Amino acid sequence: MPEMQGLEKRLIQSSAWEWFETRIVLPWAVAAAGLEEGGRLLEIGSGGGASAERLLLRHPDLHVVATDFDCGHGGTGPRAPGALR
Ligand SMILES: C[S@@+](CC[C@H](N)C(=O)[O-])C[C@H]1O[C@@H](n2cnc3c(N)ncnc32)[C@H](O)[C@@H]1O
Repeated sequence: MPEMQGLEKRLIQSSAWEWFETRIVLPWAVAAAGLEEGGRLLEIGSGGGASAERLLLRHPDLHVVATDFDCGHGGTGPRAPGALR
């Protein structure tokens, strides 16, 4: 998968995507993965880490490692693996 470009990056950082991801995508992903309280999640291709942060806001008990090879996302900025939780 190549790095995201201009329009794609703007979409993923939009409030519309935040709404859709928080209310639809993340609840579906948690259910589909069968994540339990205190579970561990590895997100490969986390961008600036916005999805992982939204997930942790709803499930602060999870342990999330988020990683991405593109550090130019803006948003919440790159973090060291394990820094989120
Ligand atoms: C749709 S974006 C994810 C956006 C993220 N969920 C967010 O909230 O910002 C997909 C990401 O996968 C990353 N990616 C693609 N291939 C990768 C790889 N092999 N290793 C790490 N990251 C990768 C891209 O750099 C891109 O940031």
